[in-house]
Amino acid sequence: MVVLLNALIAFWLVWTGQPATQLPVVKALTRNQPPHFLFSIYGVERPLGIALSPDGQRIYVAEVGGRVVGQVDVRIPTFEKARHVANLGIAIVGAFRGLGIGRALMERALAWMKLRRVEKATLEVFASNERALALYRKMGFEVEAVRKRHYKIRGEYVDDVMMVKWLT
Ligand SMILES: CC(C)(COP(=O)(O)OP(=O)(O)OC[C@H]1O[C@@H](n2cnc3c(N)ncnc32)[C@H](O)[C@@H]1OP(=O)(O)O)[C@@H](O)C(=O)NCCC(=O)NCCS
Repeated sequence: MVVLLNALIAFWLVWTGQPATQLPVVKALTRNQPPHFLFSIYGVERPLGIALSPDGQRIYVAEVGGRVVGQVDVRIPTFEKARHVANLGIAIVGAFRGLGIGRALMERALAWMKLRRVEKATLEVFASNERALALYRKMGFEVEAVRKRHYKIRGEYVDDVMMVKWLT
C-alpha cells in the first residue's frame, strides 16, 4: 500500500509538477485533519531519486488555502547503530512565519519520533538564525555542540549550532 502510494506520488510530481497534497488520494487520506493544517504522508515536495523510505522518514507539510506553506522532514538513519536518533529540518514560507506553523510542525514531527521510540532528536542551525533558535529552545532543544566557522555566508563565517532534545 505504502509502496503504491509512493509510486503514485512520484508519478504525480513528475507528470503535473503539483504538490502531492493536490493528489486526490492524499487529499482523501488527510481529509479529517484540522482544516488549516493538512498533514500529508511523505514524499511531498521531494525530488525523485531520494529514497522515499516509508520506514525511517516522514515529511509533514502545513497547507493554507490549498497551498503548501511549510514543511518539516524527519529522518532516522539507516545505520543500525544510530536508529535511536532522528534528525529534523524545517522551513516555512516567508509570509507565513511567526504564525505558529513552525511550532505545530515541530510538535507533529516530535510526536512521530516518540511513536517510533526515537530517543534523541537532533537538528542543526546557523548561530545567526535567532528566530529558529528561539523556536527550538521553546520546544525543549538545547545546544549540544557548536562547530565554529563551519559556514561562510557572503564572506562571513557563521557557526553551526548542533541541538538536541532527549525524548526518553
Ligand atoms: C524558523 C522557522 C521554522 C520558525 O517557524 P515559525 O512558523 O515562523 O515559528 P512560530 O510562529 O511557530 O513561532 C514559534 C516561536 O518562535 C518565536 N519566534 C517567532 N518569530 C520570532 C522572531 N522573529 N524572533 C524571535 N523569536 C521568534 C516565538 O516566540 C514563538 O513562540 P510562541 O509560540 O511562544 O510565541 C521559520 O521562521 C522559518 O522557516 N525560517 C526560515 C527557514 C529556517 O530558518 N529554517 C530553520 C533552519 S535550521
